[in-house]
Amino acid sequence: MVDLVIRNVKVLDGSGTDAFEADVEVDDGRIRSVGTAGSADQEIDGQGACLAPGFIDTHAHDDGAFFRHPGMQFKLAQGVTTVVSGNCGFSAIPQDPDRDSVAASGGILAGLEGDFKDLNGYFGAAMELNPAINNMMLVGHNTVRALTMGMDQREPTPDELGVMRGHVERALEQGACGFSTGLIYRPGRWSDTQEVVALAKVAQPYDALYTTHMRNEGDKLLEAVEETLQIGLESDVHVHISHHKSAGRANWGKVKNSLARVDAALAAGQRVTLDVYPYTAGSGRMIEYFNLDHINEELAEVIRIASCSAFREYEGRMVVDIAEEQGLSAGEVVKDILTAPRGDRTICIQFIIDEADVETNLAHEVMMVGSDGIPDLRGSPHPRLFGTFPRVLGRYVRERGTLGLEEAVRRMTSLSAETFGLVERGRIKEGYWADLVLFDPATIIDTATYDDPKREPDGIRMVVVNGKVAYHQGAHTGAGSGKMLRYRRSPFGSG
Ligand code: ZN
Ligand code: CU
Repeated sequence: MVDLVIRNVKVLDGSGTDAFEADVEVDDGRIRSVGTAGSADQEIDGQGACLAPGFIDTHAHDDGAFFRHPGMQFKLAQGVTTVVSGNCGFSAIPQDPDRDSVAASGGILAGLEGDFKDLNGYFGAAMELNPAINNMMLVGHNTVRALTMGMDQREPTPDELGVMRGHVERALEQGACGFSTGLIYRPGRWSDTQEVVALAKVAQPYDALYTTHMRNEGDKLLEAVEETLQIGLESDVHVHISHHKSAGRANWGKVKNSLARVDAALAAGQRVTLDVYPYTAGSGRMIEYFNLDHINEELAEVIRIASCSAFREYEGRMVVDIAEEQGLSAGEVVKDILTAPRGDRTICIQFIIDEADVETNLAHEVMMVGSDGIPDLRGSPHPRLFGTFPRVLGRYVRERGTLGLEEAVRRMTSLSAETFGLVERGRIKEGYWADLVLFDPATIIDTATYDDPKREPDGIRMVVVNGKVAYHQGAHTGAGSGKMLRYRRSPFGSG
């Protein structure tokens, strides 16, 4: 008798082929059979809903969330069974007891006891808390650079470059899937292309990835794509462009040019993939988007405050509304916030993306989905933290017809698993790990909004993580069956 049988479902196996009716048997964490099932300890009647591989969030910042929120409710309730953390150049590892590791992590480690220095230590500490979902890690450029040379605005010396390469190498050796950059952020923005090439090259012998929040996503988007492709060619690694967009009204539509350039690179044999979040607003640390000596008023006018320990009363409000109340300009309010004590930690939401560009992105065949959710549950986080995957299936597949259901599932499962080296995941296939999501294609939709962002989606009936039912009919079971994954290897702790 097997552990679990799921009957009466339409299987979307992740490959992109048409859904088919089958029963799925799960035993000892893995899919035992897809076809007709015998009896089991636990039987679930799918009532004709769709069973897909668990969704893979290719762009997450959950390194610290595995300690603060090991139940990972905001991801699990979306049907996400694996996240890729350490994006945009910031990661929880490595740490250096002689340096300011909290600052180097971009705040990921703020308030965490985190008794670990490297990826093995991180994995061990995270597993002690029985994580609800799986995690794959990147090692971040901003983090290793800050640990090595602080906030110095200069090139690294050959010795410093060697130290940084060592940090990247150790993380890859221990199972990270690649090296990430965030070249708009400090200190990454002070690096030149050759520094990044030298570090990305460390990933080459591992055949690991270079993922990037590019140097520019607005006026110089196309130049930034050129730099990214050049880094990929010179280092001979697969490049993955994070949260592809063209920011700012003057740049709307440019994603078409950018994707055309990606297509040309693909045609020439280069390995390139991308991800996108299905929203017209971005989000991040407000201090990174503004020059205090010259506040961009146009940007300030499309900013909403997500979380702000300096002014809690601003959370969930547009800066323009606060400004009107105070008889100030939006830029003046931004400056007041950023210069207040702890104001530099403010997280904001920027309405800078065109809806048509979101659809252009989602229609592209090597486009994956990444939430870019910032797991700070205080205040009013960007709704992508809770809604990304059901939004793709509800709004863009069912309502808009931007892409087909089978294709959307493929790009949120098998394509991501193959790209990010998640062994035996991302498909419903005999012998694969049983990471599964049962959903109703007619009702699935995000319900999190900018005004009410912490709402779990509709239409997700059940989520299974490594063979254990982790979410069922709106309830989190507390199964805690997630694993820390190593690139193209067995999970941490299993040899
Ligand atoms: Zn980013
Ligand atoms: Cu990010």
